Amino acid sequence: MYSHSKVDSIKIVGLGKCLPKRILTNLDLEKMVDTSEDWITTRTGIKERRIVDKEYASILGSDASLKALKRASIKPKDVELIIVATITPDTQFPSTACYIQKDIGAKNAAVLDVSAACAGFVYALGLAWSLVGGGFYKNALVVGSEILSSITDWKDRSTCILFGDGAGACVVVPAKPSSGMLGMYLGGDGNFADLLILPAGGSRLPAANQTVKKRLHYIKMQGNELFKIAVRIMVECAQKVLKKCGLKNSDLDLLIPHQANLRIINAVAKRLNLTQEQVFVNIHKYGNMSSASTAVALCEAYEQGRIKKGDIVVLDAFGGGLVWGSCVIKWT
Ligand code: ACO
Repeated sequence: MYSHSKVDSIKIVGLGKCLPKRILTNLDLEKMVDTSEDWITTRTGIKERRIVDKEYASILGSDASLKALKRASIKPKDVELIIVATITPDTQFPSTACYIQKDIGAKNAAVLDVSAACAGFVYALGLAWSLVGGGFYKNALVVGSEILSSITDWKDRSTCILFGDGAGACVVVPAKPSSGMLGMYLGGDGNFADLLILPAGGSRLPAANQTVKKRLHYIKMQGNELFKIAVRIMVECAQKVLKKCGLKNSDLDLLIPHQANLRIINAVAKRLNLTQEQVFVNIHKYGNMSSASTAVALCEAYEQGRIKKGDIVVLDAFGGGLVWGSCVIKWT
């Protein structure tokens, strides 16, 4: 838990998003695996997702970043820090942040990637808060960019229906006390690592003929187990961070939850006593885009006029690791 009395606040001054043009519908998936439009809609709330043709994480991330910078009226050369949350980087190294820096012309920025699966964007915001709020940098570009289609097993019906590609970005700068970022809660539990994992390709199990044959370069997920933990943790996260800020559930104007499953979102909303108007949902259009989900949802909520000045907005994310994170933003 951050002790936010030690750092100044930050605020978001620009948002951007980039979704690939190609749409993969549930009906398309019916032709690929043994599933049905009805099963996918009922069990997940997903209707369609976006899938890249040839783009990779830095391409979507750069596009979203340029839009966010334009809205923030900050030139790329004036960006001081770029943090990219991704579990599908262009390459293991250099970081995707390096490629984005080059592509957008942010030649004066420090650059790094963050790996915290679906909670990556909230973790990246946490880092930006400590570094910009702590006075090390004047601004930061925070990006969530994922090409989950590149690690999805298109023969596994239990996972391939869930994921999509996309990117979201925001620009943060210092803010006055009691505005912008009010509080943050981050956590994790490595004991549950096997519930959601990309088994091969790292130093533990380097790429080899056998790992490819065994399809170990794709996401493996125990969905049922994750579902229960996700609901419990997301409720706890939101409650802890609101309490830390001296706020009640009823003070919340908009919850932006990670978009993994509509049933998870509805269960979380119910336990937090929130109305439909207090919860942002776009999973039907994009599926689960891991770190990009909350980034795109925040951008879309803003574009749709769902966030106004003075609103209390809570981001609430959970993902493979396990990792989780929640933050409260008083919109300025
Ligand atoms: N089409 C039709 N039937 C299917 C499909 C499919 N696509 N997938 C699974 N089934 C079948 C199963 O085989 C099973 O059949 P059986 O009863 O004959 O064995 C039945 O449907 C029920 O399967 P469950 O796995 O129990 O289905 P469930 O209701 O749990 O839904 C789902 C599965 C959608 C994956 C859900 O568990 C879920 O969303 N879990 C959470 C995912 C999550 O939160 N991930 C974390 C973030 S992601 C990240 O970090 C990248």
